[in-house]
Amino acid sequence: MAGSFALNTGATIPAIGLGTWHAQPGAVGDAVYAAVKAGYRQIDCAPSYGNEKEVGLALKKLFQDGVVQREDLFITSKLWYCNNAPEYVPEAIQTTLDDLQLEYLDLYLIHGPIRLKKGTAPLSENSLPCDIPATWAAMEKLHEAGKARAIGVSNFSCRKLDSLLAVARVPPAVNQVECHPGWQQAKLRDLCRSTGVHLSAYSPLGSPAAAGVNAPSVLGHPVLTSIAHRLQRTPAQVALRWGLQMGQSVLPKSTDEARIKENLDVVDWCIPEELMAEMLEIEQVKLLRAEFGVHPVHGYKSLKDLWDGEI
Ligand code: A2P
Repeated sequence: MAGSFALNTGATIPAIGLGTWHAQPGAVGDAVYAAVKAGYRQIDCAPSYGNEKEVGLALKKLFQDGVVQREDLFITSKLWYCNNAPEYVPEAIQTTLDDLQLEYLDLYLIHGPIRLKKGTAPLSENSLPCDIPATWAAMEKLHEAGKARAIGVSNFSCRKLDSLLAVARVPPAVNQVECHPGWQQAKLRDLCRSTGVHLSAYSPLGSPAAAGVNAPSVLGHPVLTSIAHRLQRTPAQVALRWGLQMGQSVLPKSTDEARIKENLDVVDWCIPEELMAEMLEIEQVKLLRAEFGVHPVHGYKSLKDLWDGEI
């Protein structure tokens, strides 16, 4: 088993989870089944990935086949931007629970500090101002009702996390953010550590499929490939192991069974301190910026406002 990290709820979160963003319908179900059979115990989902129903079918089959029981798994999902207002929260989680065929989630996250008009696409013209404390109060109710055993946020800057911590009755358990050797999140990690919020890393491989063809390749970075060569590991394994050693859970997406297994083989070896230090040389570029959250009138005025100058 790949280990786990403690949450401020008293529960633990498995150190490695299967990411399902960009996992195509038709492939995601088999990937979830293969991952859990291989030993994954966390699956990271979201309705916006368009595949929760298929994930739900795979989970049902895993339970029916006796591979695992519900309580062996840690399932995360997220409140999409179109539902980022208190009145939409109860229905949104219920749809996700129905699609995943579950009674409860282990973790439910506000997908980001962005709101879009109901039923619209992620485009700047569809953005609306959002009231995070109000949405959070609705999330707290879900937690109290037992539908979400932990609640948290995603894509929150240090400043937005701090502001939420100042008003939350139930503090967020997790901030799930882009984090990999090419976007290391030192400042946010320090804040999370000092406030007891667990940092969970999405796109821990630098998201080769999602980041766009012009984005720098994290897995192809010479520092990473050189360390991988010296440790006789793959660049993906070094990126994931780096994340674990920094104290964060990692959520690599793959629908390829060999890579699913490769990404789990990161627990019984270590990157030595001097090689961890070399990773600090990697130039830092945030790959996923959510430009659609910016609008001159309705949304954030600029990317600087959205990310509070932290990118
Ligand atoms: P695939 O699903 O074909 O394996 P991230 O988790 O950072 O978003 O990255 C996901 C991307 O990285 C997907 O395109 C995935 O493709 C690819 N990927 C996953 N695991 C590995 C690996 N071990 N080596 C290289 N690429 C990988």
